[in-house]
Amino acid sequence: MKDLLKLLDLSREDITHILDVADQMKYNQKHGLTHNYLHGKTLAMIFEKNSTRTRVSFETGMFQLGGHALFLSGKESQIGRGEPIEDTARVLSRYCDGIMIRTFGQDEVEKLAKYATVPVINGLTDFAHPCQVLADLMTIREHKAKLAGLKLCFIGDGNNMANSLIVGGLKCGMDVSVACPEGYDPHEKVLAFAGSVTDCRFTLCRRPEEAAADADVIITDVWASMGQEEEKTQRERAFAGYQVNDALMALAHPGCMVQHCLPAHRGEEITAEVFEAHAEEIFDEAENRLHAQKAVMYLLMGGEEA
Ligand code: CP
Ligand code: NVA
Repeated sequence: MKDLLKLLDLSREDITHILDVADQMKYNQKHGLTHNYLHGKTLAMIFEKNSTRTRVSFETGMFQLGGHALFLSGKESQIGRGEPIEDTARVLSRYCDGIMIRTFGQDEVEKLAKYATVPVINGLTDFAHPCQVLADLMTIREHKAKLAGLKLCFIGDGNNMANSLIVGGLKCGMDVSVACPEGYDPHEKVLAFAGSVTDCRFTLCRRPEEAAADADVIITDVWASMGQEEEKTQRERAFAGYQVNDALMALAHPGCMVQHCLPAHRGEEITAEVFEAHAEEIFDEAENRLHAQKAVMYLLMGGEEA
């Protein structure tokens, strides 16, 4: 594995290994154990969209691993003035040991990885959010002590989170159900993958109640993702009824967890009541971005124990 571009590229063994290393990273950090495996190494972080968690967790993670992260804003770097991604890839590869990018098209990330000689990590595209879903899987496994055999339910837009959760959940042996309105289905490549899986169940339905029945974890995300701000009103209409609320939670398995990648819009995709009742799980999920990404950087950037 040279890069982390999308979970479709990973096997169940790859994902499990990342989660195991992430657990170890968390343990080391909590117990004050030295783990500066990336001493002297640098991660370039390209952001063409806003971020709080991704930026802070990557930058903090690199520091904790003994390395350094540098922030490149899409607008302020030459990327914003049209320098081709192929050239950015080759330049950054001469200075840095890894590149993290948050952008719009998945094709940009794939092109960056093709031309870069150092590992590339997808920090969110319109298609996928693999780092977030690794953190989600880590959190679910922490709380439920397993993944295979559990039912993961996603309510809302068939967006980057839905795409990555479907792939990540199914690859880990979870049953996955998704409820989204017509016209907002997950990506066709993801649906094709889901259709090829034989050892667990995938269900795509229109009724949130059907998807939530007997779920062990319910996950939602904003109705309008970054870049879709102009569709906000139209999306509010389309997604009315696709809210994670007490009535929906009552249909799930007792002890059902809630995950949200954040930022959350209370009163839209999730009620304030459900959010606060599950805040510990949601902020564990946010914390686990740090540990999961440290595992990814350690595995990809070839860290040796300092
Ligand atoms: N969940 C997530 O990726 O958060 P940010 O947009 O704040 O990075
Ligand atoms: N689907 C959201 C996730 C944000 C972390 C977006 O792309 O804006």
